[in-house]
Parts: sequence; structure tokens; C-alpha cells
Amino acid sequence: MKDCVAQLVTPGPVAAAVAKTCAAPDAACRLEEMVVSDRIDDLLLFHTESWRHFQDEVRRVFRDNDYAVLRGFPSVQDGAALLVATLTVGEALRTYRNGKVIKHFKMSPWTTDLSHTTRAGEFHTDLNTEPHPPAITAIQCLEPDPGSPRYGVTSIARLRNLLDFVNREYNERTRRFLVQDTVAMLNDRSAVQWSGRMVDAGTIRYHPDTIRAAARRSGGAVHAVEEDIAGVEDAATSIATSFTLERGDLLLLSNCRTLHSRGPCSVVFRDFPTVFDSRRVAVLHAHRERGSLYE
Ligand SMILES: [Fe+2]
Repeated sequence: MKDCVAQLVTPGPVAAAVAKTCAAPDAACRLEEMVVSDRIDDLLLFHTESWRHFQDEVRRVFRDNDYAVLRGFPSVQDGAALLVATLTVGEALRTYRNGKVIKHFKMSPWTTDLSHTTRAGEFHTDLNTEPHPPAITAIQCLEPDPGSPRYGVTSIARLRNLLDFVNREYNERTRRFLVQDTVAMLNDRSAVQWSGRMVDAGTIRYHPDTIRAAARRSGGAVHAVEEDIAGVEDAATSIATSFTLERGDLLLLSNCRTLHSRGPCSVVFRDFPTVFDSRRVAVLHAHRERGSLYE
């Protein structure tokens, strides 16, 4: 049986305090600077009673479900609020070039890049070929899909439910692929390869494209790999929880105890081919989960 969405409505006073904290036009940059210089815990918001209570609630939902959807969060300043929200359950935010923490993606019909193509994506974990993939992925909806709720649907599959399912269904091939086989995964862009058991000590790393890339590189049996991937996709789809994010809504998910995927997105052209409305999100990662055994 599929679970209900694990969600929490942000209390009004918390939403107002976050909006105030992130009100300045340069709020996202200022917060990123505080992260890089290790001063983010000094943020006044984090020392208020209402935030601490909210944080406890988010952590409870996250702990019980391995993800949490936060409804009614302010979508101010292109992801500044996302940074603040991620720190309820995560710490050690991942930085990119030039001290950036927050990435922005606008879905486009003119790319095949998985991060912002309008095509549907497969279940995966993020940055799975890194020696230590981030513990948490955080996504905020800045502009919902114009075809929502039919398009831009997000799905989450918990690892424990996935393993229960393949055991229950006696799906021995998929079980072996996930927990027993040594699988190589290659990131084409950075040429980083990882190989080992994808499921280990209650955690998973998995991305179909990196498995395909490694199979191509080694000259291995690509069709056999496709069958394995289809087995995981079918099992994950069977047990996944699906939902759409409205403007401001946030998704915090464990990047080692869940797989996530996104359905196809739609586009409304304002001026073909370059000006269009489409789903826009802010994304960031945290290296560690607060108080977690999975670090
Ligand atoms: Fe992802």
C-alpha cells in the first residue's frame, strides 16, 4: 500500500519570520556567505522559540518518513528561504563554484540535461558517484508547472519499502542487483567512477544514467543493465508516494534512504521558441543530517 504524503503546514508566525529574514534583495547571497564563513548558526531566526518548535516538528516528520514536504513556506528571494529551511534537518551545506549553495533550474523543452529537461526522469539519488554523496537533497518550488497537478509530479520511494516490495514479490533479480551485485557507476561529466553494492547498511546510491555510462565504458552487456534498471524502476513506481509542489512548497529528502523522480513537465510559450512559462525550482544539498547515524 502507498503511504500518504508526509507533509507539514508551516505555521503563520514561522512563515512571517522567514519572510522577514529573507526580505532583502541580496538575502540569498548574504546567507550563502554566512554558510561559507561558518556563521549561519548565528542567524537570529534560529534562536527563536517558534523556529525551534518548528524545527522539532520537521525533524519528527523527516525521521519518521525519510522525507518531509513543507507547505506554505515563503518563496522569497529565489531560494533564500530554502537555505534556511534545509537547516532544520541538515548541516554542512554543499558549496559549488564561487561559494554558491543554491542552484536554480527552469525546466526547458530545449535541453536533455536531467536537471531541467521537461522529459520525465527515472528514480535516482543525487551525486551518486561521489565518495560521500550528500545526505540531504532540498528542493523549493519557485514557479509551479503551468500544467500542475497533471505535470511536474514528484515521486519518492523509500528504500525500506522498496526492499520490502522486492522481497515480498520474490523479485530475486532486482533484489540481487540492489543489495548483492557489485555495480559500477560513472559520471560522464566528471569521469568519476564508483563501484560497489548500491545498498549498504540501510543506505542507497543509485542513478540509472551513471550505470549505463559505466556499462558502455566497460563494453559490458548494456541490455542486461537495462533490464536491471527497469526492475528497480517498476518496483520503485509500485511503492512511491507522488505529489506536486505549489509555489513556496519545499521538499526535504534523505538522499541515502530514498529515491526520487520527477514526471514530465509542461511549457506554455509566451514568445516561441525562447520565452515560456515552466516549472522553476531552487535546489541545494546538505552533506550531513542532523543527529543522524548515516553520516
Ligand atoms: Fe535529483
